[in-house]
Amino acid sequence: MKIAVLPGDGIGPEIVVEAVKVLRALNLPFEMETAPVGGAAYAALGHPLPASTLKLAQDADAILFGAVGDWKYDTLDRHLRPEQAILGLRKHLGLFANFRPAICYPELVSASSLKPELVAGLDILIIRELTGDIYFGQPRGRRIATDGHFPDAEEAFDTMRYSRPEIERIAHVAFQAARKRSKRVTSVDKANVLETFQFWKDIVTEVSQQYPDVALDHMYVDNAAMQLVKAPKKFDVIVTGNMFGDILSDEASMLTGSIGMLPSASLDANNKGLYEPSHGSAPDIAGQGIANPLATILSAAMMLRFSLNQEAAAQRIENAVKSVLAQGLRTPDIYSDGTTRVSTIEMGNAVVNAMR
Ligand code: IPM
Ligand code: MG
Repeated sequence: MKIAVLPGDGIGPEIVVEAVKVLRALNLPFEMETAPVGGAAYAALGHPLPASTLKLAQDADAILFGAVGDWKYDTLDRHLRPEQAILGLRKHLGLFANFRPAICYPELVSASSLKPELVAGLDILIIRELTGDIYFGQPRGRRIATDGHFPDAEEAFDTMRYSRPEIERIAHVAFQAARKRSKRVTSVDKANVLETFQFWKDIVTEVSQQYPDVALDHMYVDNAAMQLVKAPKKFDVIVTGNMFGDILSDEASMLTGSIGMLPSASLDANNKGLYEPSHGSAPDIAGQGIANPLATILSAAMMLRFSLNQEAAAQRIENAVKSVLAQGLRTPDIYSDGTTRVSTIEMGNAVVNAMR
């Protein structure tokens, strides 16, 4: 089992190291190879997604990814910015199906900014389409003023676009995921305004006919944003496009108390995948030993389940995470009175000990 390990920027390296430690403790035949990505790769090799890193990712069975992005690269041309690394990996590897679960652990109910009764027992799954939509629509750009300079551009544009096969395949993923859960899918769109999302709605409805056992409803994205904070437990599986999914998944993550707890999987058509925490690179806290490694550790568990066919090992990790939370161990992002504050490394060690 070949795993490409791409730590990236900010807190990426610190949290990925802990997930690698946990994977090693399983004593399974993993071949792990590390490569630079994002700003770190730009600094070392002049490109956020060097050909050598892309090749390593392509040849691997699964990819463990930290995070990319740092303000110090904000002034670079767009194609050299750290974010292009993750967008490039998604596109090159065809990772169109992004699973972002939002689960509220009982121990962390009080860390949520919502009232405990609204979030206790919360378990929703956002399925975000990841390789289409306005993120990748052509044409895009700025209409350049007569003197040819961007700062004087008259307008800028990005094109929202989805094809039928792109919508069909993500709809199938959502209905199949719902079959393993409570058999309900909410498709989020903006069909009242956007042609692209009327098309989305029509095609999701069409695909739903192949899943008569799954209930489908449709919701406009503005309403979905409101319902997520009003009554989040009404949702089960949410399927939506790339842009809306980006926004709603950040919103949903905070319902659970901390974005530092949430893993994600980005899969291709054959369940090869890239696994990363739902949070970003947080350069403001990098190097301080306070980042929460649990989202990355739980992403490694998702990797074992979805790409490496190691369900028992995945559960071992997930149970160990529950156990450290039950022991009261907390990184600062989830700390509350009466619990024990631990560092990034201590949290990783505690998970390894709990597994044993
Ligand atoms: C995410 C991030 C990325 C996105 C950025 C880093 C390009 O926000 O994974 O949600 O917008 O998809
Ligand atoms: Mg995002």
